[in-house]
Amino acid sequence: MSNELPCFDVLPQHIAVIMDGNGRWAKQRGLERTEGHKAGAENFRRIVDYASRLGIKYMTFYAFSTENWKRPEFEVKTIMNLIRKYLKEMQLREAENEASGYNIHFIGNREGLDDDIVKLFNTVEKRSSKHNKTYVNIAVNYGGREEITHSVRVLCEKVKNGELISSDITENTVASYLYTAGQPDPDLIIRPSGEQRLSNFLIWQAAYSEFWYSDVLWPDFNEQELNRALEDYAHRHRRFGGI
Ligand code: FPP
Repeated sequence: MSNELPCFDVLPQHIAVIMDGNGRWAKQRGLERTEGHKAGAENFRRIVDYASRLGIKYMTFYAFSTENWKRPEFEVKTIMNLIRKYLKEMQLREAENEASGYNIHFIGNREGLDDDIVKLFNTVEKRSSKHNKTYVNIAVNYGGREEITHSVRVLCEKVKNGELISSDITENTVASYLYTAGQPDPDLIIRPSGEQRLSNFLIWQAAYSEFWYSDVLWPDFNEQELNRALEDYAHRHRRFGGI
């Protein structure tokens, strides 16, 4: 691919990606499903780098949902190990001052995750917090309904303690206790692999998002595929309920 970057009339500020199709990608090649996740994790790196070079400021990737615990233990372990590997790489890059410029943030429920992963989340978030070029959210043990429930629970506590009165609670108050607090909602949600559903991903934040579906499986969703999605997005007419 040439080094020249395409130019789009309008670029989304925030893209969110459901990295689907890893299992089918592996099956098509006669490989174990876990090989598909390995290829998916490589592609995650490639797409983050490319989208960042294009100037996309916020990205959110769905790595592991609250429902994914139903998968075989070995598959869950492999995905967690891939996340660990990436975290260690990021930790090393920060330590060696080879920063990518990514401000990395983990969204999801940290309870139930291994202690070492949670520790790595905290270290990487802290060390990368000085960057403001590209914000990368990685959703791990994430579910949109769990996220909204979490926000409601925090607000109930505040009402109970007298810090808030219920009539003060607005949409902004609810949003301010979501895992994505302070970030813009996704403009474009991308789901490869032919499925056309949200699967409990950013269900609050997706209220006015545009969607892009593609039949390409995630490990094959390359720069050209992202360009196609962005080109299409640039010609959408977003009305946000207006005319
Ligand atoms: C969905 O495809 C994919 C997942 C549940 C896991 C995605 C995780 C990764 C790509 C690794 C994340 C690593 C980092 C570093 C962020 P599927 O298994 O449901 O595919 P299928 O529908 O073809 O079976």
